This record gives sequence, structure tokens and C-alpha cells, in this order.
Amino acid sequence: MEKIILVGNGARENAIADALIKGGAEIYAYMQLLNPGIRKSAKKYEIGKLDDSSAIVKFAKENEVKLAVIGPEAPLAAGVVDALEKEGIGCVGPTKALAQLETSKSFTRELLKKHNIDVSPKFGVFMEAKGIAEFLEELGTYVIKPDGLTGGKGVKVFGEHIMSHDEGLKYCEEVLETHPRVVIEEKLEGEEFSLQSLTDGESFLHFPPVQDHKRAFDGDKGPNTGGMGSYSDADLLLPFLEDEDVREAEKVTERVAAAIKKDYRPYRGVMYGGFIKTAKGVKLIEYNARLGDPEAMNVLPLLKTNFTEVCKAVAEGKLGKIDAEFERKATVCKYVVPEGYPDSPKAGRIEVPTYEKGGIKALVYYAAVDEKEDGIYMTKSRGVAFVGMGRSLQEAEKIAEQAAEKVKGGVFHRKDIGTENLISKRIEHIRKITGGKNERK
Ligand code: AMP
Ligand code: GLY
Repeated sequence: MEKIILVGNGARENAIADALIKGGAEIYAYMQLLNPGIRKSAKKYEIGKLDDSSAIVKFAKENEVKLAVIGPEAPLAAGVVDALEKEGIGCVGPTKALAQLETSKSFTRELLKKHNIDVSPKFGVFMEAKGIAEFLEELGTYVIKPDGLTGGKGVKVFGEHIMSHDEGLKYCEEVLETHPRVVIEEKLEGEEFSLQSLTDGESFLHFPPVQDHKRAFDGDKGPNTGGMGSYSDADLLLPFLEDEDVREAEKVTERVAAAIKKDYRPYRGVMYGGFIKTAKGVKLIEYNARLGDPEAMNVLPLLKTNFTEVCKAVAEGKLGKIDAEFERKATVCKYVVPEGYPDSPKAGRIEVPTYEKGGIKALVYYAAVDEKEDGIYMTKSRGVAFVGMGRSLQEAEKIAEQAAEKVKGGVFHRKDIGTENLISKRIEHIRKITGGKNERK
């Protein structure tokens, strides 16, 4: 039996744990909070800080584990993979230097530029306020990003969070007080999709594309969040994408991996591209160095290939030997979050339905909850995710919704994710910006 250290305690890691166990692994879970789903299935667990490399190495050595799967970005940014590899432990996850693909927006934009991978919006990187006002004027509409990990929260969009160039300049100055650089990009218009890929630096396992929903409330209203839910379609495309859009995004990821290999060393782990389909084709918003949360929960249950074997192959540089297969089913994931999330979340006890107690058919993945003696408590972040799988989006949505509405406590979720109404708006949006040129046959 393959022993695997799994670092992280969110719903994404809950889904990773399930997939690894299905593939015959024995899980040694290293978590910051006790995730009830992971606790149940792990052989052993340890509670500690996710960026504490020496504690993670110690846990691995004590249990003679030779393979590690890193869930979130914080341990990658802290160099946990560097520390594990030094001890001969194979990793699914990049070293600290290569995790810059996610942790530094300028690293990624400059890498693409150097290698002529032409999918970036117009952009500028500034270390001081000089020249910013002129650049904002030149772009007209733009997005301002602190250069570093922000949990998606430091990104401000003109027309949404920033209403004038004065405000834009002021925000850039604010960012420069706490970050070495600020990245300013042309604002792209289109529909976003996530393409998650596993790579050993040479070969690739591309998961089907998924669309996430960042805004807190129905109708894409309210503040940005970590992601309120997501869907994927039974044809392993998305209703607003064509096959060639996805192949294009896959090609970009493959070229970026080749560029990294040439300039540094082979990238081993997840490359998750946040792409956007625009009137001028597929463009790149950003890369993440880990699976998406919630997007991992859409794709991992679809994977028919043994995920434990896949992870082993990534760490050993043998991914080329594996042919991945997916179930042709639609998935809809809905997150149940505390009332007031994300601005002023109120933590509290919740009751989560199960198959046995509530007859729900959805898969259940716990996120930022704490299991205490008298039940499950929300913390201040997303609480529990439900994934419906079905022959159609409609069927998958019903399964996820039926489960999400049964959670008891001070919570809410987005009822519109995966519904026909919202999806037809996405299709309509693409039709409008492309002038209908890209209609699906
Ligand atoms: P990021 O932290 O880079 O993922 O940005 C968070 C969100 O901001 C993205 O998911 C997009 O919705 C939006 N965003 C970022 N960059 C751009 C851009 N260049 N054009 C339009 N929207 C963007
Ligand atoms: N779904 C957004 C993220 O994982 O960053």
C-alpha cells in the first residue's frame, strides 16, 4: 500500500484524500484544523501549521512515507517541497522557486513574455508610483494586482472596485507600501474557465475545464470570495467553449511548462490556468500552483484512472506512461458558507445532512470546519461543499441543491450555480462579445 502524506485540510484536500484512497493509498494527513472528512479516512493525522516544513518532514520520516501531495499554496510558498525533496521524499507540488508561478504575478507575466507565449493582456510591473498615472490613462480599463499571495482579495478591477484613475493611482500607491511591486493589466472581457493540469515537467494530464463563481451572491452580485461553487459538463467541455478553446489552453500550459523546464528545472505538480475566452481568443488571467478549490471537487470524482498511480508518476517523472480517462458526467459543486461571509462571517454550529440522515445523493466535502465533541463548527471561511454528478447539468444541479439546502445553522449558499438560467447568461455573454462567430456546431 502506498503511504502518502497529504498536506492541507480544506474541501479540496478532502476530495484529494478520497481520490487517493480509492487508488489504494494509505493517508497520513497533516492539517491545521481537524477536517472531519479527512480524519475519518486517514490512517494517521497530525495537527500543525501548514508552512512548518520541519514538522511536515518529521511527520513523513516518523511514518516512513516516501510520497507527499501538497494541497494549498501556503506550504508551497514556504518551501515545504524543497524540504521534503532534500530527504528523498517525492512530491506532487512545485519547489518554492517554481511556486512563483502562483505567488508572483510578475514572474509569470515575464516568463510568458520572454518565451513569446502570447496570451497575456497588456501589462506593466511597477516598483514605484512614477509612470503609473500615464499607464492607467493609456489602458483606460484595468485590473490592479499586488505582486504576491493575496488569496484573490487584493485584486481590484476598474469599473467594479475602482471608479476613477485617481482611485486607481491611490490604490497602487497603497499596494506599494506593503508589496515590492504592483502589476497593472488591461481588463479583459469574456468568460473565465479553469484548466487544471498535472505535469511531471514533460507529460500532462489535463482535467476537464470547470467554471467557478467568485461572487458571494446569486446573479454574480456581492463581494469576491474564494469561490462559491463550480460546474463541469458531461461532454468534458463547458457550454460556452469549443473544443479548440480548451486545446488552445492546454497548449499554453504545455508551453509554459517547457519554458520553466528550460529556464529552471522540470515542474512537478499542478498547473491550474485561470483562462478567459475573449473576442480575441483565449487569454491567461493567472496560474495557480495547486488544484482549485472548489474546482478539484468537480474533476477528481470524474477521474477513472488510479489517482494514486498518477501522483506517483508525477513525482517520479513518469506521467507519460499514464493515459487518463474521465467519466462523461456533469458535475455541480455548491459551497455552504457562514452568514455574513466573506466580509463579516459568523462562525457557529451546523448540522450537515448525509446519505443516511437525509437521503442526499451528493458527495460531501468538508472545508474550514472544526469538529468538536458536540458537533461540527464553522470557522470564518467556506464550510462544506456538496457535489452533484449526473448525466446532465440539470440533474447534477438538483443533487447539489437538494443537499445544500438541508444544512442547518447560520449559513447560505448560491442557488443559481449550475442552473439553466445562469448558464444561458454565460452563453449569451460569449455570443455578444464574439458576435456569434464562435457558435457551437
Ligand atoms: P486573480 O487573483 O489574478 O485570480 O484575480 C482575481 C479575479 O480578478 C479573476 O478571477 C478575474 O475575475 C479578475 N481578473 C484578474 N485579472 C483580470 C484581467 N486582466 N481582466 C479581467 N479580469 C481580471
Ligand atoms: N477557485 C479559485 C481558486 O482555487 O483559487
